[in-house]
Amino acid sequence: MKQGNLLYTGKAKSVYRTDIKGKLIVEFRDDITAFDGGKKDVLANKGSYNAEVSAFIFEYLGKNGVKTHFVKMLDPRRMIVRELSMIPLEVIVRNVAAGSIVRNLPFREGTELDPPVIVIDLKDDSRHDPMLNDDLIVALGLATPGEIKKMKGIALEINRLLADLLSMQGITLVDFKIEFGRQGKTIYLGDEISMDSMRLWDRKTGESLDKDVYRFDKGDVLKVYDSVMKRIAHPTTKTAKK
Ligand code: CDP
Repeated sequence: MKQGNLLYTGKAKSVYRTDIKGKLIVEFRDDITAFDGGKKDVLANKGSYNAEVSAFIFEYLGKNGVKTHFVKMLDPRRMIVRELSMIPLEVIVRNVAAGSIVRNLPFREGTELDPPVIVIDLKDDSRHDPMLNDDLIVALGLATPGEIKKMKGIALEINRLLADLLSMQGITLVDFKIEFGRQGKTIYLGDEISMDSMRLWDRKTGESLDKDVYRFDKGDVLKVYDSVMKRIAHPTTKTAKK
């Protein structure tokens, strides 16, 4: 497979055409950003840590019946994916209150959310990703009621599978963000699932194991990403579930 023209550049990933119809290459760059791009850095190898975790999670979800865009890794930072027409929504699943819902709503950080809470934001940095509701999503023509129901169902299934996987490694899945795309009428999971898009806490110490380390200068981001990548994608010991 040959890498073709650059199709799209995001804050941390670039997407390229290939010589095969319907297949794209996603490159995970070493850029890291926070606060809608207000804080930016380049951290050597960060891209490969996120690519490896994403690939591992996509494969795990695929084996468990979730349709994802992942095809295979080309090298440590590039993956081949199915071409999708992306839906500009950020579907966030929350198991524990943290981040924006603690800032914007009267939740106390660390409160368990059971059943999990799904929040859907518009993917639009210039508007700071405003929160939507089902009526607004339909009125904006972004998805049909059936598609919204489908995305929420897949999001909850992914939450169950991911929380299980991470719990075995002593990690609490606080929340995560996913994006979907269509190929024909079928909805696939696209984008990535990585330390940039999940909020993870060490079950024993409560320490952040994700982009919050970068957002709030909590420590050595690369060291944390490397160790979380190893814990998730190369588990040596299976910690018993709670
Ligand atoms: O992290 P922040 O407080 O800004 O936003 P949030 O709404 O609490 O984010 C919930 C989860 O979605 C976190 O795991 C974020 O890392 C992730 N997220 C993301 O990946 N991309 C965004 N544009 C917004 C949130």
